[in-house]
Amino acid sequence: MDLSVFSGALTAALADLQYGQSPQELYEPIRYSMSMGGKRIRPLLTLLGAQLFTDRWQTVALKPALAVEVFHNFTLLHDDIMDQAPLRRGQPTVHVKWNPNTAILSGDVMLVRAYELLFDIEPALLPELLRRFSQTAAEVCEGQQLDMNFETEARVSIAQYLDMIRLKTAVLLGFALELGARLGGASPQDADHLRRFGTDIGLAFQLRDDLLDVYGDAATFGKRVGGDIVSDKKTYLLLTALEAANETQKATLSQWMGLNSPETAEAKVRAVTAVYDQLQVRPRTEALINDYFQDALAHLDAVQAPAARKAPLRALALQLMEREN
Ligand code: IPE
Ligand code: IPE
Ligand code: MG
Ligand code: MG
Ligand code: MG
Repeated sequence: MDLSVFSGALTAALADLQYGQSPQELYEPIRYSMSMGGKRIRPLLTLLGAQLFTDRWQTVALKPALAVEVFHNFTLLHDDIMDQAPLRRGQPTVHVKWNPNTAILSGDVMLVRAYELLFDIEPALLPELLRRFSQTAAEVCEGQQLDMNFETEARVSIAQYLDMIRLKTAVLLGFALELGARLGGASPQDADHLRRFGTDIGLAFQLRDDLLDVYGDAATFGKRVGGDIVSDKKTYLLLTALEAANETQKATLSQWMGLNSPETAEAKVRAVTAVYDQLQVRPRTEALINDYFQDALAHLDAVQAPAARKAPLRALALQLMEREN
């Protein structure tokens, strides 16, 4: 089946979703954030995980898929406050369009609604899947805290960075697939291979996000380009540059780190990007993305399902590796 069948089903279900009415100051930002588009990758992964094992994927997996997307959008509302991000999907972020308190509280309700969307899961599976969802949600918060801690830490290793992005991003993609697989009736082995497929894709996905944050086209990317450099995020790009830099380049990088005034932001992005260019940071990052993509495919290959049913998952993974937004 073509990917568009699954995204079509998702778009329709998302359009019908109700979050609440009053006070409208609480619910309007939710409708705003949920209606701005986004790639809808995580709920797609849930649906694709289910259809590997059942033709009843709409019945068993559609609402849980929405839960994952609502949860993801909740994390974005709070992430944009923490990262002081002005733009998301080409539009003003909720904390800018309204204010940070609104973004906090609307985000809180989204987390609650995400849980509610899981309640209809069949009773035999519900407790275990709720436990896994909660575990994943806590891990995302752990990753987000590490991401913030690292902003002010001078020495962060690449291993620490990889663990941080595993938590903040990859575990949710892994869970999205595991959830779909379990709802579709997968064996524990297949559900685990799919979780690991999703986690590897997730690591590659966050590396690509870090790359686009520097090298993306602002109009296509929909977020402020250079934001990670401005806020001293310890991304794979920065850590790789620090590792490979000569004394002069190291001095340039450390001279800019910690300089966070809005007036010098543009100069900082230019100077740091110039060092990245000198050190081939872009192809190095692309090589690691490709490594994770290959690891991911090995897990997909190991799943006991017909190749034709795996095709849309493979296609989606490939799209994600090459994405520009
Ligand atoms: C953004 O996620 C947050 C990251 C984990 C990088 P997406 O890139 O999936 O955001 P949308 O939902 O498509 O806008
Ligand atoms: C966000 O990472 C991860 C989560 C939202 C949990 P980023 O901070 O890099 O995501 P973007 O770039 O703002 O989408
Ligand atoms: Mg962030
Ligand atoms: Mg962010
Ligand atoms: Mg980012």
